[in-house]
This record gives sequence, C-alpha cells and structure tokens, in this order.
Amino acid sequence: VPHSTQLALRHPGGVTPILVGPGALADAAGELSTILSGRRLFTVSSERLLDLHGSALGPVEAVAHQAYRLIVPDGEEAKRPEVAARLWSEMARAGAKRDSCLAAFGGGSVGDVSGFVAGAFARGIEWFQLPTTLLAQVDASIGGKTAIDLPEAKNAVGLFHQPALVVCDTALLSTLPARQLRSGLFEVLKVAALFEPELLATVEAKLDRLVGGDAEALSPVVTAAARLKARVVEGDLTDRGERRLLNFGHTLGHALEAALDYRHLTHGEAVGFGMLFALRLAVRRGMDEVEAECVSRLIDRVGLPVLPPLAIETVLSAMARDKKARESGLDWVLPAGLGRGGGATTVPADELAKELEAFLASHCE
Ligand SMILES: NC(=O)c1ccc[n+]([C@@H]2O[C@H](COP(=O)([O-])OP(=O)(O)OC[C@H]3O[C@@H](n4cnc5c(N)ncnc54)[C@H](O)[C@@H]3O)[C@@H](O)[C@H]2O)c1
Ligand SMILES: [Zn+2]
Repeated sequence: VPHSTQLALRHPGGVTPILVGPGALADAAGELSTILSGRRLFTVSSERLLDLHGSALGPVEAVAHQAYRLIVPDGEEAKRPEVAARLWSEMARAGAKRDSCLAAFGGGSVGDVSGFVAGAFARGIEWFQLPTTLLAQVDASIGGKTAIDLPEAKNAVGLFHQPALVVCDTALLSTLPARQLRSGLFEVLKVAALFEPELLATVEAKLDRLVGGDAEALSPVVTAAARLKARVVEGDLTDRGERRLLNFGHTLGHALEAALDYRHLTHGEAVGFGMLFALRLAVRRGMDEVEAECVSRLIDRVGLPVLPPLAIETVLSAMARDKKARESGLDWVLPAGLGRGGGATTVPADELAKELEAFLASHCE
C-alpha cells in the first residue's frame, strides 16, 4: 500500500507527478515501471549519496531495461561545465539514445546539472528528480529550472526542462546534517510567509523534530511547501509573473553568497538573511510590524550564523552583478502581509545604503 502523497504540476508539456513521503521511492516503482520499460536509465549521483542511500535506488533501477550510474563530485562542484561534458560523453559511450532516461539522485546541485545534461543531450531526453536534501525536495526539484556554473558566475548557463516525475522520499532526510535541514527550512518559511501562514505555525511547533531529520514531522511540511511551489510555478512557467515572488529573500541572499565566495553560507542561510532584510524594507512600506516580527522571529529560531566582517561596498557590487539585475536596477520582492503574497519594487539607492549599513552592523562579527 503506497503511503506517499501525490501532487501534480501541470505544464505545457504535460503533468509532472510529485510523490512525497517516507518510502516514496519504493512507492514510485509502479509508476516508473511503465515509463522505464525497455529503456536505459542513467542515474546521476555522488559517491557520498550512493554510500548512504544507494540501496533506496534498487526498486527504481530494477524496472529499467538497463541501469547505469554516473558519478559527480559532491556539492556545488557538480555544476562545473567539465562535469556536464563528461556526463554527455559517458552517456554517449554507453549507448544513450533519444529515448533513454536520466535520474538525478542528490541535492539541488545534482538536480541542476542532471537537468541541464538531460535537457541538452539529443535535444532533450526524459528525466526524473529524486531529491535527497530538504532544499531540493521543497524547492529545487520542482519547476524545471536547470543550470550549471561558470567560473565567472553561478547558474550562468541553463535551460528549462520539466522532469517527468519528482519523488521526494522524506526517509532519505534522516542522514542530512542539521545545517542542511535548517537551510531547507528557510525556503519553507519563504513560501509559508507569502502564501500559507499556517505552515509557519507548523514549523514553529515541530522545529526540533524537523531539524532532527524526523521523516514523520518532515513529510507534511515537505508536502505543503512542494504544493505551494508547484502551484506558483504552474501559474507562471517562464518566471515573469508570480514566480518572481519566490525571489523573496534572494536579492540580498544572492549578493551575500557571492560576496562570501559561496563558502560561508548555505543557500538557505543566505535567503534567511535576505528575508530578514526584505522584511525591514517591507515594514517601511506599510507591512504590519507584528506580522513581519512573527516571520523574523521564526527565522532567528531556525538559526542563522554570525556573518564575517563585510564591507557594504562588497555587498552592493555583488548585487549589481546579479543575473536578475536589469538596466533599471534590482527588483526587491517585499511581502504585502502574512499569506498575502507580495510585489516587486525598486528601492532608492540612499535608502538601501542606510538600511544595509545598519543590517550588516547587527549581523557581522
Ligand atoms: N533549480 C532550481 O530551481 C534551484 C532552486 C534552489 C536552489 N538550486 C540550486 O541547488 C543547489 C543547492 O542544493 P542543496 O541545498 O540541496 O545542496 P547540495 O546539493 O549541494 O547538497 C548539500 C550537501 O548535502 C549532502 N547530501 C545530500 N543529500 C543528503 C542526504 N540525504 N544525507 C546526507 N547528506 C546529503 C550532499 O552530499 C552535499 O554535501 C545550488 O546549486 C542552487 O543553485 C536550484
Ligand atoms: Zn532559493
């Protein structure tokens, strides 16, 4: 009897089922056996993931005609162009064809490079997301955005390629370090604050179990956050409208990540800082102070590190280089109120400098 919850993301190419729950990978075998019958499956993952959870792939690989594993380096290193090029060669050598399938088994890094590789190989082969981090289960695996990094800029080259299936097996999260669980929780808080404040209360009430990787506590939270992400993406597949709201916390977040050379902060932590800052700007534009405080307090409780010393000029210039910056300047996504979405607005340079100065003073060593 399958225990996982099934969600769906409708897009112009069809419908992507999203399975969530402990043991979802085993539950997905039925669905996959129809898709994979007679086809080759290439599973992209890292040594670390395969050591920890390789056995969970058993039911998936068993239904493919032939199963191959392709290894990528751990973490962001997986997104280097040389890695993508090597994967294409390995696939070609193993006889991959237009109807071969690819599966991404790992965090957002593995998902991003895998989707890019699948989207370009033979002008696009079918692929699946089997995300293993909280951040990837609630955010990165949903929506079809893929990317690799250039030495010059992160996520600089990418394409949209919707996966045919997403399987969020929450049992895999039991081995995830607490810091990575916290990191994913910040993306949960992001969609909860914008669209579903009840989810904030759930996170607050179960925080210890969530950070402990408890699958029972995590499953409903992953389900709720994944459903929100899918709903927003469905309404806006190319990132021009409502999907931009998902950039709440990301304007300063991306700049902090870049200013710190992608080393000191996880993506989620950077977004946590970014949301704290955006909430200050939002209050200056009329957001209810008590509501803003409710989100800020929860961000603090999930837990942010102290930032190393950072010059305001470093952060401002990182912002100016952001991929999302346009000629007219940077958009700031500011929440309107709890659960009431938000809007994108520009912020005058003098206000930005003054607020950022105060923000860095209170968060840096
Ligand atoms: N495509 C999108 O829409 C999208 C959205 C958000 C983020 N991203 C991208 O996702 C990446 C970040 O992803 P991430 O936060 O998942 O980090 P990650 O993929 O780098 O993984 C973080 C670490 O967790 C380890 N790990 C993964 N699963 C584990 C498990 N079950 N148990 C123990 N350890 C495990 C990994 O080995 C790695 O060391 C960034 O490159 C970011 O740009 C993409
Ligand atoms: Zn993010």
